[in-house]
Amino acid sequence: MTELNFRRHRRLRGSANIRSMVRETSVQKEDFIYPIFVVEGENVKEEISSMPGVFHFSLDRLGEELDEVVSLGIPSVILFGVPNEKDAVGSQAYHDHGITQEAIRFAKDRHPDLVVIADTCLCQYTDHGHCGVIENGVILNDESLDLLARTAVSQAKAGADIIAPSNMMDGFVAAIRYGLDQAGFENTPIMSYGVKYSSAYYGPFREAAHSTPQFGDRKTYQMDPANRLEALREAGSDIEEGADFMIVKPALSYLDIIREVRDNFDVPIVAYNVSGEYAMVKAAALNGWVDEKQIVLETLLSMKRAGADILMTYHAKDAARWLEEK
Ligand code: PBG
Ligand code: ZN
Repeated sequence: MTELNFRRHRRLRGSANIRSMVRETSVQKEDFIYPIFVVEGENVKEEISSMPGVFHFSLDRLGEELDEVVSLGIPSVILFGVPNEKDAVGSQAYHDHGITQEAIRFAKDRHPDLVVIADTCLCQYTDHGHCGVIENGVILNDESLDLLARTAVSQAKAGADIIAPSNMMDGFVAAIRYGLDQAGFENTPIMSYGVKYSSAYYGPFREAAHSTPQFGDRKTYQMDPANRLEALREAGSDIEEGADFMIVKPALSYLDIIREVRDNFDVPIVAYNVSGEYAMVKAAALNGWVDEKQIVLETLLSMKRAGADILMTYHAKDAARWLEEK
């Protein structure tokens, strides 16, 4: 034994206290952003079938959800409004009394300290379900920018603390930054979903937000899952244009991209643990095939280890509870 020369890594794993002393990464409830879907109508609290535990709320039922989030110590929510009326140019997205604007107002009024993030896109509001305006089946870039800036300004006016544009048109950060500045919102940060892949993991979200494209797909604006260097170009241009945070989305199949963006830029990185990732874990957990608590905490930890500072996740409420138990 004595002549063998090897390193005893197990020395640092001998007890729970030693393990916690040498632990490199942690997940805290302060890391979380909780997504909430808000619909028109009254007395709606309806579970989204592919996302067990996640609901559609009407404004008059939103309070109970927000109170729970705040009481769990989660500092932030991102709101997705789902309007009843859709049209070709997504008018409800930038209507000052649209469902998203009313939800923002309600949330800030009820919980002034809660950080309320607005998702800024057109796809929930357009009848064709694309994230920009259309001409002859083509998603127009520059023509969409003005509408996105208008959407951001009306969300900021409603009280949104952070604007999170998810549309993937080129120049969207520049256009929104300019629009916000012109309207006197130079202190409102932009959390850009600039590293957003064209992904099958958004399936349950599209059911929840009624935002499935009515023709074609999003491949001409969202990124090709095969590409890594493209993520650096996207993040680079957004940060040059004034993005204050970068979202990488989805998270789990893209942990390498989170690390890449972390190592190349100095803005806070957000991992968006998207709907399909949530649905897979829930499905397995509901079947008793995996231990939900352990799987979720390990999964969230992997995103922090990959370099994310902030976690946008549908597991936030459960995870906040589990972290409290530990
Ligand atoms: C809309 C948007 C999407 C998501 C967030 N904002 C879907 C999409 O691009 O189709 C996905 C979120 C999720 O799957 O949890 N632009
Ligand atoms: Zn969109």
